[in-house]
Amino acid sequence: MHGLLLHAPHDVRHATDLPDPRVEAPGDAVVAVAASGLCGSDLHPYEGREPFRPDVVPGHEAVGVVVEVGDAVRGFGPGDRVLVPFTTSCGTCGPCRRGLSARCVHGALFGWGDPDDLTVPALHGGQAQHLRVPHADGTLVAVPDGRDDLDAVLLADNLPTGWTAVERLGDVRGATVAVQGLGSVGLCAVWSALRLGADRVVGIDPVAARRQRAERLGAVTAAPEAGPELVTEATGEGVAGVVEAAGVTAAQAAAVRLVRPGGVVSLISVQTEEAFGFSPITLYDRNLTVVSGRAPVRSALDRLLAHLDGVALPTDVVITHPDVPLADGAATYATFAAREAGLVKAVFRP
Ligand SMILES: NC(=O)c1ccc[n+]([C@@H]2O[C@H](COP(=O)([O-])OP(=O)(O)OC[C@H]3O[C@@H](n4cnc5c(N)ncnc54)[C@H](O)[C@@H]3O)[C@@H](O)[C@H]2O)c1
Ligand SMILES: [Zn+2]
Ligand SMILES: [Zn+2]
Repeated sequence: MHGLLLHAPHDVRHATDLPDPRVEAPGDAVVAVAASGLCGSDLHPYEGREPFRPDVVPGHEAVGVVVEVGDAVRGFGPGDRVLVPFTTSCGTCGPCRRGLSARCVHGALFGWGDPDDLTVPALHGGQAQHLRVPHADGTLVAVPDGRDDLDAVLLADNLPTGWTAVERLGDVRGATVAVQGLGSVGLCAVWSALRLGADRVVGIDPVAARRQRAERLGAVTAAPEAGPELVTEATGEGVAGVVEAAGVTAAQAAAVRLVRPGGVVSLISVQTEEAFGFSPITLYDRNLTVVSGRAPVRSALDRLLAHLDGVALPTDVVITHPDVPLADGAATYATFAAREAGLVKAVFRP
């Protein structure tokens, strides 16, 4: 099959001679990928912020059709249209039962191989023609009727991630909240906050074109340097909660100033630094709560899908490049990393 490989930082290659994934364990499924997202999380290894094992197929937001299942798979069979949450989950261990599928004790992250322990096989990702899915029954989600491939890509990660980030703020009904970072995750958080009843959302991002997309969803927006003034104007005392979806220390430092005393800062960005961008003293002096962690997409979808039945998702606002050939992978990664040319989210079509 053909697909992408992350060979080294800033070096994504399109390979045409990759081995076809096969069922390796009775619980596996193999999915023919129809669409696969490019996520801000793919940039951490690409930009060298996160160590990685070279030559693993990246990508963790796949949608497609099941082509083969192992003997133990009960819930899915060939021909089923599925979305693949970004981690595998068994569905039965402690974390899975507690709604924390992203921390399944048997789980793994798609598109990832531990660089320090080569005895554990990598789990290749979705930016390729086919994808092997371990623990298929506990991991896969049937694409709901009426959802196209692009909606389903958003449901495989960024929409439930943005939703989870807002839920971690507590009850936002009637409140003003801020979202820092208006990439795909932040835009999904803006949309989720308004659906969960927030009165106002202040979106903050240095990129004007991204701010405009947040405004289309109903946010008021500012560049980072103008954020504090807009928040003071809008609320006087600070926002009830901040979703930090920027992934930079500067945004964390700002977040603990934008939030009012007693408020919540929800760090949904992947953490790649050894230290926070704020001090324990600031948290203490302002009685703040900070929450963080990988979004449990499979668990979240179990709750969310019924709630979102018939609801139009913000797919058109978020996905700017819906139809990118894998052969353009290297250039698309570079454009995305540079935040150039209006690219917020690209979707590969193998
Ligand atoms: N917790 C999870 O489970 C989970 C899941 C998916 C993605 N993520 C993470 O969420 C983050 C966002 O993902 P994305 O796909 O939207 O990425 P992205 O890179 O497209 O978006 C990040 C945005 O932050 C903006 N930004 C940079 N500096 C800023 C600042 N000082 N203040 C405000 N905004 C600033 C950038 O301009 C950009 O628009 C990444 O760290 C990603 O790894 C986490
Ligand atoms: Zn992602
Ligand atoms: Zn589990």
